Amino acid sequence: MSHIGSYEERIKDFSWAIAEKELDYKEGDMINIGWYCSDRICKMGKSSKLALIWEGLMGQERKLTYDDLRKTSNTVGAMLRKLGIKPEDRVCLFMDKIPELYIGLLGVLKIGAIAQPLFSAFGDESLFVRLENAGTSAIITQKKHAPKVRKILDRLPNLKHMIIVDFDPSKELQPGEVAFDLWNTPWVDELEIHPTYAESPSILHYTSGTTGQPKGVKHVHYSLISQYLTTKWVLDVQEDDIYWCTADPGWVTGTSYGIIGAFCMGATQCVMDVGFSAEAWYKFIEKHRITMWYSAPTAIRSLMKAGDEIIKKYDLSCLRHLASVGEPLNSEAVIWSERVFGKPFLDTYWQTETGSIMISNYPGMKIKPGSMGKPFPGITACVLDTKTFLPIEETGKIGLIGFKPGWPSMMRMYWNNEETYKNKFKNGWYLPGDRSSIDNEGYFWFVGRDDDVINTGGHLVSPFEVESALLENEMVAESAVVSKPDDINMEVVKAFVTLKPGFEGNKDTELMIMNFIRKKLSPLAMPQEIEFVPNLPKTRSGKIMRRILKAKEWGEEIGDTSTLEDD
Ligand code: WTA
Repeated sequence: MSHIGSYEERIKDFSWAIAEKELDYKEGDMINIGWYCSDRICKMGKSSKLALIWEGLMGQERKLTYDDLRKTSNTVGAMLRKLGIKPEDRVCLFMDKIPELYIGLLGVLKIGAIAQPLFSAFGDESLFVRLENAGTSAIITQKKHAPKVRKILDRLPNLKHMIIVDFDPSKELQPGEVAFDLWNTPWVDELEIHPTYAESPSILHYTSGTTGQPKGVKHVHYSLISQYLTTKWVLDVQEDDIYWCTADPGWVTGTSYGIIGAFCMGATQCVMDVGFSAEAWYKFIEKHRITMWYSAPTAIRSLMKAGDEIIKKYDLSCLRHLASVGEPLNSEAVIWSERVFGKPFLDTYWQTETGSIMISNYPGMKIKPGSMGKPFPGITACVLDTKTFLPIEETGKIGLIGFKPGWPSMMRMYWNNEETYKNKFKNGWYLPGDRSSIDNEGYFWFVGRDDDVINTGGHLVSPFEVESALLENEMVAESAVVSKPDDINMEVVKAFVTLKPGFEGNKDTELMIMNFIRKKLSPLAMPQEIEFVPNLPKTRSGKIMRRILKAKEWGEEIGDTSTLEDD
């Protein structure tokens, strides 16, 4: 049993006030995530403790203490303030997993601005859509990503500043560009923290839906309460842990638990800015004596594929606790990890909108491999009937997951999109858009998404976004984008395309279109296969029926096709 007490003990008489008390936060007080993650830890006497251990692409290493984290984030905050960035202005962080990304997010928050992290592999169109929607004022990036920003600058009148953290001094800056080298700038010891309160906006994360452009999920500083307590109770991060979250802060796991979680606990966090390779990952764990590891099913399946022999080359006895998020964690992966690491990966379920872990396997709780576990203390969850939206009492029956609103890290709004936000609630329940059943012991069993969003390797891709981008290709007449099964990534993007007259659907055309999407959107959104068809299945009113194409890919019954004629 864990030092944090059993699940049953914790859930009894639970209140969010427990976390508030531990953080010394009282209702109405100031609460600033940037301050809590750095200044507060120093105030607790841990200034010289290691906050961040970073390894770069070329084998470079950087180590920062909590005092370094405090001062460097002050320095970013001061730089932005000097540029005229005001509270609640959106500042985009568009960087690989380099220290400036982690520090920068805290710096943005310290001056009360809203941090907008975006995945650095995004192409110019993905970037444009998100910057335009947020009305972003400044972007912090690296020279290698600057060309993508320059390309769309004309169309973004609000974007006044591009801060480049590794600018080459021999080159010339364009108007609006700022060279900011954190490692050769005097660090700011004292920064006036902007007085943010529980409901002050903190982070704006973009997520994909089935229809329409990506939605900006607005979080507030009060989310810290949920992030702190779930890091402590589910991820079981303790003061002396060396923690590694493999997620990129362009996505919510990489901020909630790849920046905020470990830092607000005062633990040591490791970051590796290197792509996936089983060898590199095991070496990283061994070298830094990582004790707590938070990763994702696709990575775990890739490690399984790399085989057990390679594991024997490394001393991984340091690992104490493992957890996973982002997609269904198959029971084989849980059983495998128990065999090779001596510990099972504990599945955790949540999403960008919920801001923190909602359903999970809690340390010490009986694990049922393949189940997501039970709701976190303080979270009321159920499955709802798809028509009446009333909770289903019967065990084992599939319904829509529903959460009772009111936990601290719940999104407060979709940016400029109140209507879509309101549609996420039915009968007083928040619907994350997933289907599940609950067994007789209260364990949740994930079934699938309730929409067409594609979850490829834990990354959500909107078929709408890919279809829209495809239509911008000169050869494409029409397209329909669906998921198709994949051993490692669970699902990948597949596009059905009809071509304009004069173009031929062959291997070259396929590669050209794939590349077009990779550059415009991202490697994740790039179709792994393009099937050229003479026409697409449509309803009488001309709506493309993705459902039919998807069923074929998954070898499923096509089901009711009467709407083929009528919608
Ligand atoms: C899916 C990532 C099965 C789900 C934190 C959810 C999962 C979406 C799990 C959120 C899990 C997340 N088992 N599916 N343990 N965790 N999902 O917003 O469909 O990028 O709604 O947040 O991923 O993805 P998002």
